[in-house]
Amino acid sequence: MKVSLGLVTVHEMKIQEFLDLAWKRYTQITPDAAKIAHLLQERGENVINDHIAFRTFNRKGLGRNELGQFFQGWGYSACEDLIFEEKKLKATYYTHPDETLPKIFISELILENFSQDLQNWVGSLTTLRANTAIGKETFLESSWGPVSFTDYNRFYFESEYAAWTAAFGIQVNHFTVLVNGLKSFKGIYDLNEFLLKEGFTLNASGGLVKGIPSDLLEQSSTMAIRMPVQFREALREIPSCYYEFAQRYPVPGEGKLFQGFLPKNANKIFESTHRLK
Ligand code: NI
Repeated sequence: MKVSLGLVTVHEMKIQEFLDLAWKRYTQITPDAAKIAHLLQERGENVINDHIAFRTFNRKGLGRNELGQFFQGWGYSACEDLIFEEKKLKATYYTHPDETLPKIFISELILENFSQDLQNWVGSLTTLRANTAIGKETFLESSWGPVSFTDYNRFYFESEYAAWTAAFGIQVNHFTVLVNGLKSFKGIYDLNEFLLKEGFTLNASGGLVKGIPSDLLEQSSTMAIRMPVQFREALREIPSCYYEFAQRYPVPGEGKLFQGFLPKNANKIFESTHRLK
């Protein structure tokens, strides 16, 4: 339920309650994230979320700007648009005046850059959802019915992003630990070493750490593990979601931590839901 006051929409659910429910849903299919958060808490850490990310398609009724409007109802504002040429994606991230709240990162697949077959598949899958008003359910409940595993496999090779989003719907794709907020690690390299020792698999595409301090952002992530998903045919195990880690650096001359994102890092991070060879 939401109440509209002129241009401003006020949600009845508090943002923290939404984030808690989103975390609960995410950790059900991302057990590594729950384990890591628990390990960090055992070390006395208070985990701060840098951002949470959603994936969608650029279809009317479901596009990134339309999904983003929902977060504007909680006081978020659109900060910057990003283009990921290689992955044929666009993204927008949203920031909140309360800096303890995570940024919301929403990416969308530019469907017209793909085959007519893929467009038709996504089109039929998303029709009902695209014609339903956007609310908290859009992010917290199943987006559409199970897809065919044959289709998932067929379109996986054209766009892993399309296949993932078709299989999982519009739910959180990853939460992100703000490494700057951790007290017991020297930085992201130290944290990665700890995670590897604990037996987690990290995304090694382009090196474990994406970015360098002069980029003002360094990122790493786990590789999504395979979880059972209901397909039309049967339950099948496919890579689900990953947990991301971000270390931010102060913007020269400003002193404040850089709050943006870097497409060249993110291109590699997106691959955290790929199948391990
Ligand atoms: Ni991210």
